[in-house]
Amino acid sequence: MKNFGTLNVLKGITLTIEKGEVVSIVGPSGAGKTTLLQILGTLDKPDMGAVFYGDVNVNELKEKELAAFRNKNIGFVFQFHQLLPEFTALENVMLPTLIGSARPSDAEKKAKDILNFLGLSDRISHKPAELSGGEKQRVAVARALVNQPEVIFADEPSGSLDTKNKEELHQLFFDLRAEFHQTFVIVTHDEDLARLTDRTLYMTDGAVEISRGRRIKGKKPAAPVQLSLF
Ligand SMILES: Nc1ncnc2c1ncn2[C@@H]1O[C@H](COP(=O)(O)OP(=O)(O)OP(=O)(O)O)[C@@H](O)[C@H]1O
Ligand SMILES: [Mg+2]
Repeated sequence: MKNFGTLNVLKGITLTIEKGEVVSIVGPSGAGKTTLLQILGTLDKPDMGAVFYGDVNVNELKEKELAAFRNKNIGFVFQFHQLLPEFTALENVMLPTLIGSARPSDAEKKAKDILNFLGLSDRISHKPAELSGGEKQRVAVARALVNQPEVIFADEPSGSLDTKNKEELHQLFFDLRAEFHQTFVIVTHDEDLARLTDRTLYMTDGAVEISRGRRIKGKKPAAPVQLSLF
């Protein structure tokens, strides 16, 4: 359960997300999608219930431990890139690695590698204002990926993009999953994207009503993300 004051925003939800799965969350405005994503992504806590990454109950971690856990294991992509305007693309992408206390030269190499992979190698010294919308969003994806987190959460990542950039970004998620076996949980209003994902969770009024698609078959994954809200 999750309340904001007297408003019951999330009801009972039980959810397991397998490693390597691409899951979409859809539903009307105000259904609780962002709140659910923030709880899954450890940016917010449930009032009743718990989130597990493998054996780790993230709600029991102290603030510092949680920050370190998040830096290592979780990446975020938001609707409006949220890049730091005074830093270049390269510097923005280096930040998560530097926060994880890597050497600057290592952080730079990792950032360049991922920017290169995303086709941005000739844009690394541009500041966000000097990038197109699609480029900004790809830099934001690079920032989310640079520490090779297990799980990437994206909240309407293509909401501010035109059709071409939107399709490219969507394809990128699947390319990244194929390349790095990462797990993606994507809140979207985009039906095309939802259809492409392995599983779609439909939310209304704080509950997951129905779910389309099947979980990936095969051997049991090492560390799924599990959510139990009461
Ligand atoms: N910090 C907050 N304080 C109080 N109420 C909040 C807070 N954040 C969200 N809410 C309320 O919780 C409900 C769910 O919000 P949430 O942002 O999760 O919806 P959403 O499904 O992401 O909607 P949208 O598609 O418009 O982004 C809404 O009614 C919203 O007004
Ligand atoms: Mg939202």
